[in-house]
Amino acid sequence: MRRKLVVGNWKMYGNLESNKVLLEAIIKGVHDYRNADYAVCVPTPYLFQAQAILQDTNVAWGAQNMSQFEAGAFTGSVAPHMLVDFGCSYVIIGHSERRELCNESDPVVAAKFEAALNDGMKPIFCVGETREEYESGLTEQVVARQLDAVLNRIGPKGLCQGVLAYEPVWAIGTGRGATPQKAQAVHSFIRNRVAHLDKAAAAKVRILHGGSVRVANAAQLLSMPDIDGALVGHASLVAEEFVAICRAAN
Ligand code: 13P
Repeated sequence: MRRKLVVGNWKMYGNLESNKVLLEAIIKGVHDYRNADYAVCVPTPYLFQAQAILQDTNVAWGAQNMSQFEAGAFTGSVAPHMLVDFGCSYVIIGHSERRELCNESDPVVAAKFEAALNDGMKPIFCVGETREEYESGLTEQVVARQLDAVLNRIGPKGLCQGVLAYEPVWAIGTGRGATPQKAQAVHSFIRNRVAHLDKAAAAKVRILHGGSVRVANAAQLLSMPDIDGALVGHASLVAEEFVAICRAAN
């Protein structure tokens, strides 16, 4: 039985003051929810604050990106071990916004996945097709290509040490997410592709769903057999919304 996981992706929002209010409300809200796991991925400068406020609670924290390298002349980049220094359990890898805006390729994403594992973090590895790809019927082809890049590098046993997230790009930030049935079909496709290589790894790996997950659709999405949690953008910035999604997972 896979334990559900709800992760908030704050993206580039927040400040010291608003973060404190939000984190304290989340801690209070999910304190008694012991049947699932919860985390927030905050902007890098606020990791120290997240660590200070969230340690010894049932809310973990993580980052939204990192370098695949441990050190070097990479101005503006953050190494995996630096995230570990601030207690990160998770790091989002290959989010569509980074693939799109920063040209992150499949091989780079795969290298980051491996680097995160090597430093003892759980990568949250995002896959998903754009609207154009979706409308052209290329969903499975695109998701398979993205998934295979990581599978070819670290194999199914490595993959299942991390977390997968299927986020159809056309559903992100639109308020119009995939229907639970549509989402389930792709989640099941992903799990089957891993099962083809390793049944145990496929049964173990958690596949989160992302893209306009809100209170209104969370329970239905989370009731699908291959949806093991949610990666929440917008709604994770509002404590009551995020807590309500966590309650649905619990
Ligand atoms: P929204 O929940 O705002 O659609 O964002 C989803 C997302 O990109 C999470 O990583």
